[in-house]
Amino acid sequence: MQFRLAGQKSMNAIAPCPLNQYYSKLHFILEFANYRMRNKAFLIFATTIPLFIFSANAFPAVDAEAAKALARQNNCFKCHSVDKEKDGPTFIKVAAKYKGKANAEERLITHITTGEKAKFPDGHEEEHKIIKTKDMAEIKNLVKWVLSQ
Ligand code: HEC
Repeated sequence: MQFRLAGQKSMNAIAPCPLNQYYSKLHFILEFANYRMRNKAFLIFATTIPLFIFSANAFPAVDAEAAKALARQNNCFKCHSVDKEKDGPTFIKVAAKYKGKANAEERLITHITTGEKAKFPDGHEEEHKIIKTKDMAEIKNLVKWVLSQ
């Protein structure tokens, strides 16, 4: 009986041993599978990257850090928190209230830019804080962030 490495040329005239044939066949299958896998991995890589870039451009993500920074600068967190009750509703509650409502963004933009009457837990009413910036992109980003909680 003689073992050869796969691919090694037969140097003698001994009739091929069945085990040997089996081994190189197995090796061939494994090599082939390996080649296919690498190809597949490349294909997945090559197709998902442009898709990812495309979708990132088509649906710009909320910039959570910028939203929180703007809220901090405007003292929104004095009366609001994402999940802890303060004088104002939590942003999780606000998001739930407006879930699926088409005009949610406009409504909240109006709410934080016009000084609407705001009802406090103790029953008194006062004008809601008006956000200081006039930059609509920043305001929209903040509102989108609130609605995404
Ligand atoms: C002095 C406290 C206070 C500050 C500061 C404050 N809010 Fe409010 N906010 C409230 C209260 C009270 C309500 C509840 C109003 C109501 O239900 O009538 C409210 C409601 C809201 C709502 C929900 C509106 C709705 O239609 O349900 C949002 C969104 C909101 N505030 C965002 C902000 C943002 C953004 C800031 C910072 C620019 C901010 N708030 C600053 C007290 C405050």
